[in-house]
Amino acid sequence: MKKIFALIAAVLPALAMASTEGVHLDKHLTDLTDKASLQRGAKTFMNYCMGCHSLEHARFNRMAKDLDIPEALMMENLVFDTDKKFGDLATIGMQVEDSKKWFGATPPDLTLVARVRRPDWVYTYLRSFYVDPSRPWGVNNVVFKDVGMPNVLAALQGNQHLGTAPVTVGYDTLTGQPITEEQEHTLYLAEEGQLSEAEFDNLVFDLVNFLTYSAEPIAVERQRLGWWVLLFLAIFFVPVYMLNKEFWRDVK
Ligand code: HEC
Repeated sequence: MKKIFALIAAVLPALAMASTEGVHLDKHLTDLTDKASLQRGAKTFMNYCMGCHSLEHARFNRMAKDLDIPEALMMENLVFDTDKKFGDLATIGMQVEDSKKWFGATPPDLTLVARVRRPDWVYTYLRSFYVDPSRPWGVNNVVFKDVGMPNVLAALQGNQHLGTAPVTVGYDTLTGQPITEEQEHTLYLAEEGQLSEAEFDNLVFDLVNFLTYSAEPIAVERQRLGWWVLLFLAIFFVPVYMLNKEFWRDVK
């Protein structure tokens, strides 16, 4: 009984934290083995994020090796800072004092963001900007209220508004047609961007896949090794068990 109480006490704070967030997060089905997706994510990151955010714990050469990008291609197409060398860390030149003045907050380093915030959060955050003329950049975010970041992907996504819009609540069992209901406080696309909704979701999916890779570049290797370790332990158990029996034979 005591154990059950201890368990509940241990889990409660986590539950409380989850409930205070109160925002539905879309699931990111991370796939770190999909190299093409990681490469596309790296491209989007370098083009749209690196002006403000560094990946200061990652080196270009390691990234290139893990993502199967040849050195020349990487340096020509993905590293825009001409002072950078292949073995350099992916830092940026923006000064903290400047960015504080411009955005009200310094754009944080994103190497570990997918571990700190989790992939679901980042995936939902990047797709949850909406037009809000009261904010300095004219946008706000459902997941990160009064965020200091402009919606840098707006040209691709289009402009979302927050208001009353039809939401799919289920599907008709006979016809398979979606059943919609007008709901308040819902994001909807008011002006289309260069990409369709599905294409944009895919772009952000790849980007978050890449950030999940950068947060733990060794993840795939660790999981692969894990099976060998388990196999080793399983085999090792046999001699250890026999040895144990041998040791205790005369004692008992
Ligand atoms: C024009 C500069 C700028 C660009 C470009 C930019 N961001 Fe930001 N970003 C910011 C600022 C400023 C903040 C801090 C917001 C705050 O704290 O209010 C931020 C915050 C974030 C956060 C939240 C971090 C946290 O844990 O608090 C994430 C995630 C993020 N940005 C991802 C991205 C991604 C991905 C891109 C590229 C698609 C990008 N940003 C492009 C300025 C930028």
